[in-house]
Amino acid sequence: LGLPYFHFEDIDSTNLEARRRAEKGVPHGALLATEYQSKGRGRLERRWIAPKGACLMFSLVLRPKLEMSLVFGLTNLAALAVCRALEEITGLEPKIKWPNDLYLSGVKLAGVLTEFASRAEQVEYVVVGVGLNVNLSRQDLAEIGSPATSLLSETGRSWDRARILAAVMRNMNGLYETFTKGDRRALVAEYEARSWLLGKEVSVRDGDEVKTGLFKGMAADGALILKGRTKEMLIRHGDVTVLS
Ligand code: BTN
Repeated sequence: LGLPYFHFEDIDSTNLEARRRAEKGVPHGALLATEYQSKGRGRLERRWIAPKGACLMFSLVLRPKLEMSLVFGLTNLAALAVCRALEEITGLEPKIKWPNDLYLSGVKLAGVLTEFASRAEQVEYVVVGVGLNVNLSRQDLAEIGSPATSLLSETGRSWDRARILAAVMRNMNGLYETFTKGDRRALVAEYEARSWLLGKEVSVRDGDEVKTGLFKGMAADGALILKGRTKEMLIRHGDVTVLS
């Protein structure tokens, strides 16, 4: 994974560009990274804002032979790959906030946006986009508008984004092999071990619907297991808020 590699100075969004290229047949494994995005996107129609050259922003094109229900498991995989890479390089231990955020010191460090296209019930391609706050200053972070942190802010030094990207791709390779070849239990265990939410009371909002309960863990397909007062629920979409 990671080839062919395309690097941009300025683009609307690497996820949008990856989707355009995927439509035109770019192969499995293609990687697009950029210094700046004018229309960086997050989940739930949110924006991803970063000053030029400070954030690691990339999108990976995958063409997995997977059932559609498993596609969002790839979000978890990318989150794990970033966690591992950051541990190796910086020694920091970010936590994952289901389904797609990485947290450090209780605030957001990185996010993953997964999008896919299908034809006749078959996954055609998946675009996994990652934004990781690497060298954003405190002032840059203040301009984002919601609480966030960066590697620079946590460690007091700047970090080489290319080195981090290479480590993410190396980890992603191994994780993707495991994910597509079957035994996903080890991945679930690793994910839960890095979960910011495990054992916490949370509420999950999906549109107008809000469910509350204990975050019990993750199912093999990436769904959140929520223990309500009367029953256990499997949740595949939503925005999580920690209650305790
Ligand atoms: C989120 O926090 O909801 C997900 C953020 C994902 C941001 C990355 S930056 C690279 C890629 N291109 C985009 O437009 N979004 C993702």
